[in-house]
Amino acid sequence: MKVVIALLLAALCFVGLNAQCPNPKTLQDSEGNKLCARLFEHSSYYYDQSCTGKFLDVSPNEDTPIIPWVWNNRISSLVVGSSCSLTVWSHFKKQGSKKKFSTGIVYQLKEVKKGLFGNWNDSISGYYCTC
Ligand SMILES: *[C@@H]1O[C@H](CO)[C@@H](O)[C@H](O)[C@H]1NC(C)=O
Repeated sequence: MKVVIALLLAALCFVGLNAQCPNPKTLQDSEGNKLCARLFEHSSYYYDQSCTGKFLDVSPNEDTPIIPWVWNNRISSLVVGSSCSLTVWSHFKKQGSKKKFSTGIVYQLKEVKKGLFGNWNDSISGYYCTC
């Protein structure tokens, strides 16, 4: 019986640890520098499985009107750090649709409307981030 309970607790802990999206309050790069935002290649309908794949780190006050080619129209989820805000555009050089995200986790950019019929999944082509 004790073993079963221990296993159950271990399983529950694992579910907790399984959360992928970083906490906006402690968002930092691998060297411990504060980040303005982190942009992820993949997302999921299951929030604890979102923020996966490769990621792109955005520094405080970084202005990138033309996203690196490999990242163009590739971002599906993102996290914006504490007291930061991220503005994104759907075309290079701050053209097309524009959207501002404040501190928090966007598990599914697909759920964020772009214009009348579109959404922001795989649609970001440039950004500006301030803290
Ligand atoms: C986002 O777009 C990509 C490419 O079209 C697609 O593979 C992926 O399934 C989309 N994500 C969602 C949540 O629909």
